Amino acid sequence: MAMHTLVVASQKGGVGKTTLSGHLGVMAVLQNIGPVALVDADPQGSLAEWWNVRKAEQPFFVKTKISQLKTLLKGLEDKGVALVIIDTPPAVTQTIQAVMSEADLVLIPTRPSPHDLRAVGSTVNMAEATGKRIIFVINGAANRARITGEAAVALSQHGTVAPVTLHQRTDFASSMIDGRTVMELFPNSRSTAEIRELWEYLAPRLGFTVE
Ligand SMILES: Nc1ncnc2c1ncn2[C@@H]1O[C@H](COP(=O)(O)OP(=O)(O)O)[C@@H](O)[C@H]1O
Ligand SMILES: [Mg+2]
Repeated sequence: MAMHTLVVASQKGGVGKTTLSGHLGVMAVLQNIGPVALVDADPQGSLAEWWNVRKAEQPFFVKTKISQLKTLLKGLEDKGVALVIIDTPPAVTQTIQAVMSEADLVLIPTRPSPHDLRAVGSTVNMAEATGKRIIFVINGAANRARITGEAAVALSQHGTVAPVTLHQRTDFASSMIDGRTVMELFPNSRSTAEIRELWEYLAPRLGFTVE
């Protein structure tokens, strides 16, 4: 079976790349799609720090230099990994473009703020240069805020926007303190439901079949 690769990227920091990489990785494990591996390509290593205090074995974890990514991915595929999620540093560089070129899909989290929306163009340009499919997801939305809808409209001019909005909720942050996620701490929460819906939207686009 072929390995599927999701790259989570955004030129902006603080938009939820690491939060979503960890959460989608655990959600994929819970959906029993086969072995899931997380790759931290951010030298800051936030995802690595989270995983280091985590007790569950899966998702598996690898930290890598971007220069070694290709070899690493080949090794993971040979080991039968079904899904790899790659968390990336916030920058616009050729190296990030190189990571994107390994993707089946590039997920771009974006906060619904004017600064973040204005910054999205450079991330999109990088992804487009690689010819990869991109999907935006709005993260950190306030309840019933009009700007969320406006952000979705603005983003849709650059590409596909996931029909699931992730809201600003402390459990997304607090659950990660001891290496877990909202699904593990608050399985019946709205946060868990949002991650599940996002996974169900992304999975077929990555080539998985969802029951
Ligand atoms: N939906 C959310 N609700 C509440 N806090 C969030 C949410 N998404 C991210 N955060 C918090 O925002 C900060 C930045 O998120 P992070 O995933 O580290 O972004 P990035 O990796 O893009 O820099 C972190 O403290 C994280 O816990
Ligand atoms: Mg990060």
